[in-house]
Amino acid sequence: MLAPRAGDHVLDATLGGGGHAHALLAHIAPRGRLIGLDLDRRELARTSARLREAGFESDVFVSRHASFADLPSVLTDAGGSRADLVLVDLGVSAMQLDDPSRGFHYKGVGPLDLRMDQGSGAETAAALIDRLDVDTLAALLEANADEPHAVLVARLLKDGRVTTTHALERSVRTGLTGAYAGITKAAVKLSVRRTMQALRIAVNDELTALDRLLDALPLCLAPGGRVAILTFHSGEDRRVKKAFQAGHRSGLYSSIAREAIRAQKDETFADRRAASAKLRWAVRSQRG
Ligand SMILES: C[S@@+](CC[C@H](N)C(=O)[O-])C[C@H]1O[C@@H](n2cnc3c(N)ncnc32)[C@H](O)[C@@H]1O
Repeated sequence: MLAPRAGDHVLDATLGGGGHAHALLAHIAPRGRLIGLDLDRRELARTSARLREAGFESDVFVSRHASFADLPSVLTDAGGSRADLVLVDLGVSAMQLDDPSRGFHYKGVGPLDLRMDQGSGAETAAALIDRLDVDTLAALLEANADEPHAVLVARLLKDGRVTTTHALERSVRTGLTGAYAGITKAAVKLSVRRTMQALRIAVNDELTALDRLLDALPLCLAPGGRVAILTFHSGEDRRVKKAFQAGHRSGLYSSIAREAIRAQKDETFADRRAASAKLRWAVRSQRG
């Protein structure tokens, strides 16, 4: 759908490990230019070094430590020209998930941190749990992850004074199996995952950032420019779908995805994380 061409100006709003950026650069170099953003300073430095080693110098690839919520100012700072292509691949990267010190996954023991930008001074998930009362925490679990046992899970997190990934998993697992005799292992696992997702979204204020990105996108795309957004849960996908539909109705987008595109079986087989991915695209109209 993005169909990158030689000379295109591309914005990768979520550079991550640079897999998408590398593939896009191979199409647009040497005359094109890709700006890659990420909130994660550590991974940004590693990915930038890898892309330099792969032969992409600063005339074709630049990286920025920035949030995609600030897309217009990033483009202005980088010279002002609008992008032909924008790619947004939401959520966490494989490297972030696999690093126990970041606390994104309960498989490895680590602090319950969950910040994308650890240098920002923002509050960690453990500090958030400590600060919020049970009702507010339960409302957050419901709003960010549709957690059906939100009130009980919130109480478990508070009572357990949870500060590590393992403690979170253990508190939610033992609490739910104690409260519901027939609850399955799979249902408990889902609640643990939803709890971590809801906390991560809150800690990084992810839905506000996505709303700001969606508002700014039409201004940042060149006439005929294309955007593709990969989401990983319904709260994100709903926002993208609504914003694209509204932009289509008002004429800002000339066409949009009718349905979300899902991963094929072979893609899910190769990478289980692709199973929940939904891709939507939009094309900026020629006018405006
Ligand atoms: C799923 S990964 C992207 C993977 C990437 N497409 C690749 O090919 O490796 C999502 C990335 O977006 C970053 N991120 C999350 N929220 C962000 C934001 N508001 N602004 C910029 N980057 C963000 C995360 O730190 C993470 O590195």
